[in-house]
Amino acid sequence: MNKSDSITVHDEEAAEYDQQVREYRWFGTEIVFGMCFEYVNPQDRLLDIGIGTGLGSLPFAKTGLEIFGIDGSGEMLKICNSKEFATDLKQFDLQNIPLPYSDNFFDHVISCGVFHFFGDLEPLFKEVSRIIKPGGIFGFTVFAHTTEKTEKAGSQNPEGYSEFQSDWDTLMFMHSDSYIEKLLQGCGFEMLKCLKFFVLSGKEDIEDLCYAYVAQSAPSKSR
Ligand SMILES: C[S@@+](CC[C@H](N)C(=O)[O-])C[C@H]1O[C@@H](n2cnc3c(N)ncnc32)[C@H](O)[C@@H]1O
Repeated sequence: MNKSDSITVHDEEAAEYDQQVREYRWFGTEIVFGMCFEYVNPQDRLLDIGIGTGLGSLPFAKTGLEIFGIDGSGEMLKICNSKEFATDLKQFDLQNIPLPYSDNFFDHVISCGVFHFFGDLEPLFKEVSRIIKPGGIFGFTVFAHTTEKTEKAGSQNPEGYSEFQSDWDTLMFMHSDSYIEKLLQGCGFEMLKCLKFFVLSGKEDIEDLCYAYVAQSAPSKSR
């Protein structure tokens, strides 16, 4: 199978990625960390899906959690590895589920700035539900619908997500709150927190609207 485009663009941009994130004024990683902080403990095992260069899980590592990462981009993973905070990094295309982890392996799972590369999130959420322990925390971001993007977007899938044009040479999607809520519920999660936030890049034509979520896996799994 060919490498997904969303991986290739990150292989190409990996060396500049951390700098680009600062210029874009993306604080989604800090937001997810802050929203999850009250539920995590040192020594907990956390998986970062689409770990990239590690910006999302580094604050959890500083808090004493054991970090596992998975990402399709070998170049992003090389930079993450050089920061020497992750216990295990796997190169893996997230389109090829199942994820390479056993059931109930992680205390918590996060994913920052990744799910907008996927329209239908159900296969990934089902996998998160399988590999996370009962009571575990799932923190993530998605892109929300904005009027401007909705006007430019293709037709919205009845499920509640639609594709939009981006500066990056790859497909991107925005997801509705009701779609995410329904999916979380269907996969056995209780939504604990949801925050809508703007990314104010400073460039007039780039003002993205996102959601950050924190959900909890049911204390006893019957699915
Ligand atoms: C915008 S970066 C976010 C990186 C990191 N989570 C952060 O917050 O800085 C998106 C990451 O998702 C990864 N990614 C995108 N599509 C993927 C796929 N199909 N399989 C695996 N990784 C993918 C990219 O390689 C990249 O590292």
